[in-house]
Amino acid sequence: MIKVGILIMSDRASKGVYEDKSGKTIQEIIEEDAQYEVSEYEVIPDEKDIIIKMLKEYIDEKKLDLVITSGGTGLSKRDITPEATHEVIDKEIPGMAEAMRSHGIQKTPFAMLSRAVAGLRGKSLIINLPGSPKAVRENLEVVLPVIPHALGMH
Ligand code: MTE
Repeated sequence: MIKVGILIMSDRASKGVYEDKSGKTIQEIIEEDAQYEVSEYEVIPDEKDIIIKMLKEYIDEKKLDLVITSGGTGLSKRDITPEATHEVIDKEIPGMAEAMRSHGIQKTPFAMLSRAVAGLRGKSLIINLPGSPKAVRENLEVVLPVIPHALGMH
């Protein structure tokens, strides 16, 4: 089993101003495949320190194999997910993010505005996705087939 954590970055969703739909979309897609098990799921504000703390907790303490984040990859002042992710990964996998963006721009030119990164912390994989449910779907379909291999499981 691949143990998965879902981490949603959103100031507003974390305050309950609106409902988190992207996390549910990730969960639905991931759980269609029996080899994945979602064991952690949280909605947190766009605060670098909190994001770093949660990523470390999910991987170092909860021993998750895969952490999928959504949101905070764009250009607004509060978007800080890629910077936080850079601080916790020890090996970046640029091709994963490049593939997501190049697939995305077939659907919308705005896909090039996502600064999402992917990389390994130890043997665990962190993948940033943009915030909208539509973007989550489009990006996940690109990387899902490669995840078991990236985790050294296939
Ligand atoms: N990628 C895909 N495949 N589809 C999309 O609709 N939306 C884009 C982009 N990536 C999108 C996408 C938009 S509009 C933005 S602003 C950036 O992701 C960053 O999103 P975020 O700030 O919610 O992380």
